[in-house]
Amino acid sequence: MQKQQADCTGTSVERRSFLGGAICALTSLIGGTLAVFGGKYLLGTPHEVSGAWVDAGEISNLQGGSPHEITFEKSRSDGWKIHNERATAWVILNNSSITAFSPLCTHLGCAYGWQASQAAFVCPCHGSKFAADGKVISGPARRPLDQYDVKIEGTRLWLGPLKNSQAS
Ligand code: FES
Repeated sequence: MQKQQADCTGTSVERRSFLGGAICALTSLIGGTLAVFGGKYLLGTPHEVSGAWVDAGEISNLQGGSPHEITFEKSRSDGWKIHNERATAWVILNNSSITAFSPLCTHLGCAYGWQASQAAFVCPCHGSKFAADGKVISGPARRPLDQYDVKIEGTRLWLGPLKNSQAS
């Protein structure tokens, strides 16, 4: 007498075959689920919610002429979680034009500050200096300050994606 064997492709309806098929189906379901979510985790989503525009506040809070550091909230994704975090930008309002710089030095990423006495952004880490238009006055930084895309809606300033500057 020949014994029937259960496998994933078998068509036997005997109890052992049915259980074997159920186990194969369950294993395939678990494997498929792990593959989908594992792949999604490994490939990931961008850390910063890409292309998102962020409300950076009232324009009336900005003073014309000298750079002004503003704070705002932006979203960052971490796996499936979205975190809101505090961010800053240096904003200059000149007549009707607005420029917003990333707060990080283009040399090695330190936070720089505006020094009114030197009329320049000065980085405390290695001494780079940038003009009010973001251009390098002195290194070691070689690239101008990175800028955000900006737009105004009503009375609110919106910051878009950060554009990396090119060395001049
Ligand atoms: S990080 Fe700013 S000068 Fe080096």
